[in-house]
Amino acid sequence: MKNHVLPRIDEDEEARQKVLPFCRLKIGEIWTDPVRGHKVGCLDAAGPMQIQELMGGEKASLAIHDPPYNVVAFDTRPIEEFISWSKRWIATTSDALDSDSSLYVWLGADQNEGFQPLPDFMLMMRDFQELTSRSFITMRNQRGYGTQNNWMAVRQECLFYVKGKPDFTVQYTDIPKILRGYYKEVNGKNTENMERSKSNNIRAGNVWVDVQQVFYRMEENVNGCYAQKPLKSIERLILASSKETELVIDFFGHSGTTLIAAEQLNRKCFICDNDPVYCEIMIRRLERLRRFGKTGWQNGNPFEVELHGVKETEQPILELW
Ligand SMILES: C[S@@+](CC[C@H](N)C(=O)[O-])C[C@H]1O[C@@H](n2cnc3c(N)ncnc32)[C@H](O)[C@@H]1O
Repeated sequence: MKNHVLPRIDEDEEARQKVLPFCRLKIGEIWTDPVRGHKVGCLDAAGPMQIQELMGGEKASLAIHDPPYNVVAFDTRPIEEFISWSKRWIATTSDALDSDSSLYVWLGADQNEGFQPLPDFMLMMRDFQELTSRSFITMRNQRGYGTQNNWMAVRQECLFYVKGKPDFTVQYTDIPKILRGYYKEVNGKNTENMERSKSNNIRAGNVWVDVQQVFYRMEENVNGCYAQKPLKSIERLILASSKETELVIDFFGHSGTTLIAAEQLNRKCFICDNDPVYCEIMIRRLERLRRFGKTGWQNGNPFEVELHGVKETEQPILELW
């Protein structure tokens, strides 16, 4: 079994220098997908002109952002700096969103640092009067971190805001309902929750325990990336808060999970990252999906042809256009 693990390219300068020559975008450039019109930009999320160029006058019905969280796993900076930077990319996002649209922001809370930046970010968001808070999702990780002296840290937070009155489509999990009860009178008859229910499965509320964290045995795994969100989590947000052919944006693209989910769910996606290596990874992930039907590299990596001389032996499902 091959095991071509690419180290975190944000931390390993040697690996980074090896892959940079294979990256087709330079800072400030935008790639447009000739098939579905997706765009991948090597841009700064907080740069109004750059984001305007990415949008090209179009408006999105949904934004899904997963910025670096200002916690040790990423780069830490003074909280005031992180918040004033966040204010800038929320402003570019608000401009890019349609009058009735949804915004999701994944964010962490550092339990060793007064839970920053989550509460600071929530307060900052109140300055954007056009964006109204709607929900606060917690997703449970399978792997956690911590000591025997504290609760295991297993949560990921996602804030949900809306602009105007966007549609929302209820989503169901794969978990069957097992509890009965909660009688309610409907047309003079006592009905129990199973009778009234639209599904035999539990509705996805704002606590998710059914999403598998990405790890190296999964097909969607993208080696070289360090902060990949599970496709299932992004698909759930897209299905709840957008319709087919609508535009979804993500300004912190990284492994391109939002791009892949949008492609699979027939939405258009404009995505960016300020690092040319992640931009290349996103484009390659989309091309791989179309060519081989695979959502990631499992224990290979996006540059394995150039770095390890791997031959593309898998059977293409489609020829490259
Ligand atoms: C937490 S990761 C996003 C993970 C992504 N949701 C996924 O599933 O792969 C954050 C990304 O934001 C990018 N980034 C950091 N600062 C940025 C900026 N100012 N503009 C655009 N991207 C930025 C980083 O390079 C990194 O790839």
